[in-house]
Amino acid sequence: MGEDAGMPPNSKAAKTRTTFLCQDCGHTSPKWDGRCPGCGAWGTYVEFSESKRPAVGATAMARRVGGPMLAPLVTVLPLGDQPGGDELRTGLGMPELDRLLGGGIVAGSVMLLAGDPGIGKSTLLLQAAARIANAGGKVLYVSGEESGAQVRMRASRIGAEAPSLLFAGETNVESVVALLESERPKLVIIDSIQTLYLEGTASGAGSVAQVRDSAQVLLGWAKTSGVPLFLAGHVTKDGNIAGPRVLEHMVDVVLYMDGDEMGSYRMLRCTKNRFGSTNDVALLEMSGDGLSEVSDPSAALIAERQRAVPGSAVIVTLEGSRPLLSEVQALTNMSTFSPPRRTANGVDFNRMAMISAVLTRRCSLSLGNQDIMVNVPGGLKVNEPASDLGLALAMASSYLDVALDPDTVLLGEVGLNGEIRRIPQIERRLTEAVRHGFKTAVVPKNSASQVGDVPGLRVLGVDSLRQAMAECGLGHVPVKRR
Ligand code: TYD
Ligand code: MG
Repeated sequence: MGEDAGMPPNSKAAKTRTTFLCQDCGHTSPKWDGRCPGCGAWGTYVEFSESKRPAVGATAMARRVGGPMLAPLVTVLPLGDQPGGDELRTGLGMPELDRLLGGGIVAGSVMLLAGDPGIGKSTLLLQAAARIANAGGKVLYVSGEESGAQVRMRASRIGAEAPSLLFAGETNVESVVALLESERPKLVIIDSIQTLYLEGTASGAGSVAQVRDSAQVLLGWAKTSGVPLFLAGHVTKDGNIAGPRVLEHMVDVVLYMDGDEMGSYRMLRCTKNRFGSTNDVALLEMSGDGLSEVSDPSAALIAERQRAVPGSAVIVTLEGSRPLLSEVQALTNMSTFSPPRRTANGVDFNRMAMISAVLTRRCSLSLGNQDIMVNVPGGLKVNEPASDLGLALAMASSYLDVALDPDTVLLGEVGLNGEIRRIPQIERRLTEAVRHGFKTAVVPKNSASQVGDVPGLRVLGVDSLRQAMAECGLGHVPVKRR
């Protein structure tokens, strides 16, 4: 007797199952919970119903066991005979982006470009699309966010119009796939994955389930057709890709675009790449005619620096494995507020507060009644402890009104006792400093002993913040009344 005995065949198909789904990570559970056991986020569970599909595959499989032999549905080939090699990569002709992708776009890969709304995702994807289209490849740009007229306007503004760049304003995944089947483009852009919906999924567009299911359908199509796909995805306030983390697990490449929306620089980071390394970043600059690649980011980041002004220090930070020179600015000012104001732009607020406390207690600077503003020009976000020393000396330099030597870079983590602690990958940073004409580097004593001779650079090892201040001409400076 079959396992469905006594039950009408379609009563099972009509049933729905209610589960709870975490909006952040996609974790599912049969019961509601205040805190998601998957990612630890609070209050992210939403009720979610999906139809309980009859396990057709499983039933058929069970019947087949012991039955007549069936012809296999897939063919098996030695790995060496599978298609492969560099011929499957297409360069975009945008050197920084190609490098980030590991040498170009791999056939059939699905790439996610994530970032805050308004950061420049659509602009970059349109530029990439135009590159392929101008080289003669057919590109399909599917937008659920903007009309054809809006995209056209942007395209003409950034010079991205090409006859083989096709546009479709569509949000139904099945229609999109039908379109892809009939058009067979060389590259597909989906802007954005949150606007797509799949009929039959019980929740609205943009919800975790919709994003996941829509992406799954597109992923399947990309893998069978060998056509690469770019998905644009918005991120939530806390920096996750809106909807599910699961999307990150599904796609082949994840690129994050961030930066200060008001500033012109955008940092493009690769956080996952199945076909290359992830330790890389590219710097892009937004101008009136779209995004352009910055081939020497360090030079660009310190280009507008004023030399020898109090409150300015130069650090070498690491973005992935790439060293970047950057200016850190600080301004201290007698406060008229109680408590005094602290503003941190581009650096972590708590780190700045900690360093100002260390300067007060360990270096006898009375910053307690000072407003302190810290800024990293250009929109770069410096979150590395190695930038502590630069931050500390920028504050001290502003407070004492004494400029630091403009040809000195500062590297080191500051501890609560005012000690300077070692930092990773110091040689790589020093090489970058020398390449840009810096003459002196103040570094942690422990790291200094590890580095060999760096031609053209005087390396000063320090073990305390007080000593670093003395080496930089900030020791024994009489404090003006302010
Ligand atoms: P957009 O690509 O629409 O962002 P996203 O798709 O990530 O939401 O970019 C929007 C911002 O970029 C908008 O504030 C205007 C600015 N922009 C320029 O400064 N120059 C340009 O050439 C373009 C196309 C946009
Ligand atoms: Mg957009």
